[in-house]
Amino acid sequence: MTDGRVDAALVRGPLAGARRSGIRAMMDRAAALEGVLHLELGEPDFPTPPHVVEAVERALAGGQVKYTLSRGTLELRELLAEKVREQNRLEASPERLVVTAGGTAAVYAAFASLAAPGEGVLIPDPGWPGAELATTLLGLRPLRYRLLPEDGYRPDLDQLETLAGDARVLFLNTPSNPTGAVHERDTLERMLEIAERHGLVVVADEVYEDIVFDVDPVSIGSLGSEGRVVTVFSFSKGYAMTGWRVGYAVAPPDVAEAMVQVAETIVACPSSIGQVAAVAALQGGREPVLAMLAEYRHRRDTAVAALREHDLLIAEPRGTFYAMVDVSTLGADSFAIAGRLLEEQRIATAPGETFGPSGTGTVRLSLASPPDVVAEAIERIARVTRGETAVPA
Ligand SMILES: Cc1ncc(COP(=O)(O)O)c(C=O)c1O
Repeated sequence: MTDGRVDAALVRGPLAGARRSGIRAMMDRAAALEGVLHLELGEPDFPTPPHVVEAVERALAGGQVKYTLSRGTLELRELLAEKVREQNRLEASPERLVVTAGGTAAVYAAFASLAAPGEGVLIPDPGWPGAELATTLLGLRPLRYRLLPEDGYRPDLDQLETLAGDARVLFLNTPSNPTGAVHERDTLERMLEIAERHGLVVVADEVYEDIVFDVDPVSIGSLGSEGRVVTVFSFSKGYAMTGWRVGYAVAPPDVAEAMVQVAETIVACPSSIGQVAAVAALQGGREPVLAMLAEYRHRRDTAVAALREHDLLIAEPRGTFYAMVDVSTLGADSFAIAGRLLEEQRIATAPGETFGPSGTGTVRLSLASPPDVVAEAIERIARVTRGETAVPA
């Protein structure tokens, strides 16, 4: 394997020849070095709330370690139906809910259910790499629509309209990885109009719904067209539960049924103890989520101030724990720039182009790392962009 690509002589599947996620590739390279500041991975540094862990310990002792219903336990789906009604204003019953192995499996199952090989999936550029990987793996066609950095990474709706005639699915992500943008109601209304005009189904990835600053997030599925919207959520980010692998989707009943069949094929059912953890998280209330949110806000504010001071900020993140950083003074090739930041400054970042072709000259920082690590990393990046490249003592 060279430059992150697999050997196509051996590997003939749809991902053969595809570049690996630049995030995982950076993690591997960083693991071989000492004293690296890690800002590459989108993972909260908080532990899972203790009451969740305790509930799982009790479940383990009680032997709750068997297969569950493939669409998830009724107990969890009933709680989720209540949550999405109250929090997301989505009409939901347990039949419309599918519990999955993280949001990742929900997106895959949605694409697999909604589109036939060769059909187009509209994907934001820059956007979460998982959407394009799922598209490619399923033999679908990725169609990238631009997010406009100069406009807070709002989607280019004119371009979206042009591409829509060629598509079957419109994938959107708000709050957005890697940009930190949160799409406003009028943007979502216009995206829905485009979907309606062109007969598209919308897959809305809202896995960062709990990490939003200054604005009230809106679910596109609440805007009156639930028959064509699949909404994906997750416990990973808001509850700091990445490793438990629990996500879920709200979908029209027929689509939900098809998604269950896909999930049965790839994972049989979600993790039994993961679902116990999810039930405990929902029953325990939102205090831990809000406490982490307050900390993320503090980190965002600190990082934004430092990035502004050095003229590195592209757009202020209004959600998630990411910020896109302008390092174009170092060139266009973001893989090379991220490699240089790692080798010269011991900072692991995510190369912008891993999120799409528009990511040239940028890297993504994860602000889910401790604040002193983020602050130090920004100082070092500023030093490199000013031309001071010595490895720090
Ligand atoms: C936009 C987006 N969607 C989905 C996921 C998948 O999350 P999980 O499978 O842990 O729920 C991620 C993870 O980084 C993400 O950034």
